[in-house]
Amino acid sequence: MRLCLVVGVLMVGGMGLASRADEPKKADKAVSYKTDVAPLLKDACASCHSGAKKKARLDVTDYDSLMKFVKAGEPDKSKLHMSLLGKGAKQMPPKNPLAADQVAVIRAWIAGGAKKD
Ligand code: HEC
Repeated sequence: MRLCLVVGVLMVGGMGLASRADEPKKADKAVSYKTDVAPLLKDACASCHSGAKKKARLDVTDYDSLMKFVKAGEPDKSKLHMSLLGKGAKQMPPKNPLAADQVAVIRAWIAGGAKKD
């Protein structure tokens, strides 16, 4: 009985690790800042986060400004990503949340190191 429990815990633990290890691979698929991320953010966010209007002092058209809300390699700790999910940060955009595939682009970019390429 006790052995069963231990084996069960090990299996569940192992599965958890396996699925986490898979994620970065999917995410790696060459998401580019210039061709994917920047245009997406410009469309969806620049009306409130660029030029004269920089809510939360974030300018989405400026890589350095953006990086203040990004922890490279850690989308779940990046406000830029979490705001799109409305988790641990204010929901962004406030009224029209992005589609899941758009959120996935941002997530993949951050997971891949948030490079300026
Ligand atoms: C309609 C205007 C508007 C749009 C569009 C918008 N934002 Fe915001 N955003 C705001 C405002 C206002 C704040 C400040 C909220 C506050 O602190 O009360 C903010 C704050 C933020 C913050 C900081 C959140 C926090 O909890 O600290 C992030 C990150 C952010 N926005 C990202 C984005 C991204 C990414 C997009 C596009 C996908 C976006 N925003 C689109 C108005 C907007």
